[in-house]
Amino acid sequence: MSYINLNSKTGRNELCPCGSGRKYKKCCLGKKETGAYDIKNLYARKYDIKLKQPNDIEGIKKAGRLVIETLEMVEYEIKTGMSTDEINTLVHNFTLKNGAIPAPLNYRGFPKSVCVSVNEEICHGIPGKRIIEDGDIVNVDVTSILDEYYADANKTFLMGNTSKDARRIVDIARKSLIEGMAVVNPGSTVGDIGYAIQKYAEGKGGSVVREFVGHGVGFDFHEAPQIPHFGKKGDGIILVPGMVFTIEPMINLGKKNLIILDDNWTAVTSDGLLSAQFEQTILVTEDGCESLTPYPL
Ligand code: MF3
Ligand code: CO
Ligand code: CO
Repeated sequence: MSYINLNSKTGRNELCPCGSGRKYKKCCLGKKETGAYDIKNLYARKYDIKLKQPNDIEGIKKAGRLVIETLEMVEYEIKTGMSTDEINTLVHNFTLKNGAIPAPLNYRGFPKSVCVSVNEEICHGIPGKRIIEDGDIVNVDVTSILDEYYADANKTFLMGNTSKDARRIVDIARKSLIEGMAVVNPGSTVGDIGYAIQKYAEGKGGSVVREFVGHGVGFDFHEAPQIPHFGKKGDGIILVPGMVFTIEPMINLGKKNLIILDDNWTAVTSDGLLSAQFEQTILVTEDGCESLTPYPL
């Protein structure tokens, strides 16, 4: 596993902090640009990744607390017979009442305050007239902006008497997030996360959606880097403390392929089979990671 020295006193023979994989003396040592060995600067310049400072992390954590309280409120209120638009009203009002803004509303033209995706809907379901029925699985994806900080999390709820398949796919998606989080450490890579999730989910007979990925978050809804839920060990950017991103595996019961509906948002499985998802906002710490939207998995 590659490891990079996170302070500015990198030894000549250590790996270069720029992530090139070469020795420091053969790479960035001696380059004149100021701040070139400052990880925060480096990640901003090289990858467009905005590392978060302690005060930012506090802010995202507060937004995160509101997001999980919103999901708890939904979990309590959600009932069969309700329309998905009623979930939207609940989330919208709860968010405003708590002094926050629902990030989805008007985001790139999204018309509602939350995404609600039922059964074969993978993600970005637009709340509307669809009625939640007994046996459905319902993903509710909440992103709140509190004091200008963003936090993003979602959960898939099992409604009433569910099928074995429904319980199985929800369980695989939930454990996929756990597996992804388990490999988040400074020094591991973005590819390690995707690898861990893909290996687990496919090993259980699920398939991993490719078109939608996790993402940096905190100052904005979607920041660099992208976090695919598939991939190869050791590939991609090296994780460093202060990185904040989502992990949000979408796992299908059948084929991985998707179709976007005519509303230009709702992604559904191409075979019409079930899809489930869990998402949390994750901070890379000095010795591992911490969820900033820590609901029990
Ligand atoms: N919350 C989603 C995510 O996890 C993004 C939804 S974009 C929206 O990234 F416009 F549909 F809200
Ligand atoms: Co997200
Ligand atoms: Co989300």
